[in-house]
Amino acid sequence: MDDAAEVEQTAVKIILIGPPGAGKGTQSQLLQKCYSIPQISTGDILREAIQKETPLGKKAKDFVNKGYLVPDEIVIGLIQDRLHRNDCRKGFILDGFPRTVSQSDALSNLVVIDAVISLDLDEEEVLVRLAGRRSCPKCGKPYHMRFEPPQHNERCDTCSLKLIQRVDDKEETIRQRLFEYRKNTEPIIRYYDEKSKLIRIDARGTKQEVFNRIVATLQYDHI
Ligand code: AP5
Repeated sequence: MDDAAEVEQTAVKIILIGPPGAGKGTQSQLLQKCYSIPQISTGDILREAIQKETPLGKKAKDFVNKGYLVPDEIVIGLIQDRLHRNDCRKGFILDGFPRTVSQSDALSNLVVIDAVISLDLDEEEVLVRLAGRRSCPKCGKPYHMRFEPPQHNERCDTCSLKLIQRVDDKEETIRQRLFEYRKNTEPIIRYYDEKSKLIRIDARGTKQEVFNRIVATLQYDHI
């Protein structure tokens, strides 16, 4: 069967794109609840594989921890497998994929995407968001030390464990991630714009304000 035909015609297929820390993960989770479709984050899949020391994790570890992109063939294979799972038949939200021209070409051979949401945020704000990001090592609950702080010191409200910072959220590694974004990912934003798939969203303001902007635009476009 043709790969693209495996996804239901009414399915909602969205890409979230944007610089590190723009809020792709945050907004994907809100969209996931709203549309009842899975969030597929290549970053989350890779981090889990690294933590479990799987063969994928061993291949990806140095790239992720140093802020480089993981080679295309690894990430494309991962997405091909993931999109064939049953829960994607009603659609999906791709968070962090594609990031290169080769990845967007591979994706276009798999499915027809409805919309590409670009979360636009300047680098100053990106650094504030990433510097304050923390999570619980046990339950994974996300926090932000300025915008969504825990109730007591740096401890999870639910598990009481000390919150951790992502290895790649060090300033030097953030700069490398921003460099990769400008070099490899910005060109595909232009590509989707030329295909009239691009929706630009101002990612400043609260999570809810950004989410409301996204939903209003998707509804306006009948997606
Ligand atoms: P990935 O995990 O995708 O990292 P990223 O793109 O750098 O994005 P982040 O997860 O850092 O940020 P985000 O935009 O999701 O923001 P968030 O919602 O968390 O990828 C990690 C690595 O994996 C890559 O560097 C690469 O090595 C590899 N990789 C992944 N995909 C790949 C691919 N396709 N090809 C090759 N390699 C790949 O928000 C950030 C913080 O801000 C949080 O604390 C949040 O609470 C807060 N926040 C969010 N929104 C708001 C708001 N409106 N107001 C205030 N605070 C907010």
